[in-house]
Amino acid sequence: MQRIADNYWQLPPADLKLAQDEVHVWCADLDQDPTLVEQFHETLTSDEQERAAKFYFPKDRQHFIMARGLLRLILGRYLDQAPAHLRFVYNAYGKPSLEASPSLHFNLSHSKGLALLGVSSDRELGIDLEYIRTDFPVDQVAKSVFSVSEQNILRSLPDALKPEAFFNAWTRKEAYIKGLGQGLSIPLDQFDVAFVPSEPATLREVRGTWENAHNWTLQHLTPVPNYVAAIAVAGSGWQLKAWRWLNG
Ligand SMILES: CC(C)(COP(=O)(O)OP(=O)(O)OC[C@H]1O[C@@H](n2cnc3c(N)ncnc32)[C@H](O)[C@@H]1OP(=O)(O)O)[C@@H](O)C(=O)NCCC(=O)NCCS
Repeated sequence: MQRIADNYWQLPPADLKLAQDEVHVWCADLDQDPTLVEQFHETLTSDEQERAAKFYFPKDRQHFIMARGLLRLILGRYLDQAPAHLRFVYNAYGKPSLEASPSLHFNLSHSKGLALLGVSSDRELGIDLEYIRTDFPVDQVAKSVFSVSEQNILRSLPDALKPEAFFNAWTRKEAYIKGLGQGLSIPLDQFDVAFVPSEPATLREVRGTWENAHNWTLQHLTPVPNYVAAIAVAGSGWQLKAWRWLNG
């Protein structure tokens, strides 16, 4: 069941601390034992349980419950509070924050049974995780979500590099808009990211004039083989710590 790669992802220490200049990223496998899923379900509020009940496929319901339950468990660990006691509020675009602890910033992403959670004590952040689908019509989809310059770079790459390059760009763009928290009101063709495989994740150019547009730092993440992820954090000079969540 455990699929998390043994690279820079570490097991967290018992006396976990989140320093001012640190950003923590947690990686968790959402395919867990039904007993644990049931325990996590108990920690959700009634509106979250109603949301869970609306999923058509049991697997999707289980992944939602695990991701939301883990969010509660891990944030509760930083705040020394019981997971069920946390209350989320949502901005106009659906980005959650903590009602009683708005300065503990976090963002969650899940894809194909894996979840990533970013946490910071004083910086806005966004995170995105995707499974690299090799059967995806990348050039076609890029036309609707990438800038013209990004589309040209993608088209110029050898076919073998295109899926990874596409999902690098997707996760970096999505992490940035999730950090800003204004959803797709941020036009995706109004900013460019670097995304060629092995090229560092950077925000290359922002042409739009939305609030807090500039001064975000991107970081590429490889949680497990065949997945790609990125985190976007407001400002620079922060340190990343990557934890893997294991049950028990
Ligand atoms: C909803 C949205 C945040 C993306 O969600 P997604 O990629 O489907 O899902 P993820 O797993 O990465 O993130 C979902 C989580 O982000 C958080 N979230 C919800 N709305 C958010 C917002 N406006 N900003 C930041 N985070 C948000 C929630 O914790 C949510 O978890 P939940 O669904 O379990 O409640 C939004 O950005 C969107 O619809 N994007 C469209 C995708 C797209 O076209 N991207 C183009 C990239 S090039």
